[in-house]
Amino acid sequence: MKELKALAVVVGLTLVMYWGVEPYAHHQMHPTVEAADFQFKDLDGLNGAKGNVENGATLVANNCTACHSIESKGFPSFMDNAANGAAYGVVPPDLGSAGKLYDANYLAAFIKNPAKASKTEHKYVDGKIHPMPNFDWMPASDIADMVAYLGAIAPEEMTNKEAFTDACLRCHGIKYADMKGGSMAAKTPAADIKHYMGKTPPDLSQYIRSRGHEYLETFINNPQKHLEGTAMPRVGLTEEAQLQVITYMEDIGDSKKSEREELGPKFLIYLVIFAIFAFLWKNAKWREVH
Ligand code: HEC
Ligand code: HEC
Repeated sequence: MKELKALAVVVGLTLVMYWGVEPYAHHQMHPTVEAADFQFKDLDGLNGAKGNVENGATLVANNCTACHSIESKGFPSFMDNAANGAAYGVVPPDLGSAGKLYDANYLAAFIKNPAKASKTEHKYVDGKIHPMPNFDWMPASDIADMVAYLGAIAPEEMTNKEAFTDACLRCHGIKYADMKGGSMAAKTPAADIKHYMGKTPPDLSQYIRSRGHEYLETFINNPQKHLEGTAMPRVGLTEEAQLQVITYMEDIGDSKKSEREELGPKFLIYLVIFAIFAFLWKNAKWREVH
């Protein structure tokens, strides 16, 4: 019976310690924030409008392709990354996948007012303005048409890597993905992005470990919830695209995670079997003594 008591004490202490290290400490270090809002309810988006793709094509060609490439539709980039960085502070993303990556309401709100939609208005004071102009002078139906066009030209499927590349790589590198080729370094030259953002966006190779899945889920959707006043803009991804980005970060930064998780239960089973044998062995030994 003594063994069982000792076992109960050990198990009890272990559980208390586990609770202290995991749920409790986790909770203290990451206070709960509201769940991600993939409807973007705070923004003045499409308000239910359905756009006309054909008219949208003309409007996008006339209003957006001076800065943004749409390679899949034959609109090239007029400048290389260095010249874009110097001109805008950041390389404007190719819009070929925008209709797939961004939520349609967010996209409409971003076109109307980029600083407001991305929650970076606090940075644009004292005559500073966002490098992308507001299009809030356009009729709401024109905005809806452009959103419809961007949706129509977007690919049906994207890989996780493509989602990360189009949504994050203009600011953040993820170098562990390709140390040799350097193809996953940030697109915008470091000095330009630092000047534009006021801070250097960190390399994201290890952020899945230091911040974890849940933090990233709410952070990308609304960085201000975690770091008030942060330079990181909200990136209004759909739930699906955001999951792809986080999964990519997991594949690069923590590729052994599933192996590790598989090993856990196996190790516990081993321990239980080992404990039974140890107990039987001990009983056998003591029988000889008595
Ligand atoms: C004068 C140049 C310029 C024009 C014109 C322009 N943009 Fe942009 N756009 C930018 C820059 C620069 C960025 C990157 C800003 C950033 O990442 O902070 C950007 C970012 C974006 C994004 C990314 C949004 C996000 O949350 O990451 C989308 C989508 C976009 N623009 C769509 C459009 C559309 C649609 C039009 C035409 C109606 C347009 N842009 C016109 C310069 C421009
Ligand atoms: C227009 C540039 C820009 C884009 C696009 C962008 N970020 Fe950031 N990000 C920043 C900047 C600047 C910071 C540093 C913010 C600070 O320290 O206040 C940052 C910080 C971060 C951090 C660190 C947060 C922390 O807790 O310290 C993470 C994680 C992150 N970004 C993820 C992403 C992901 C994922 C994407 C793509 C979906 C993305 N970012 C797109 C500019 C950007």
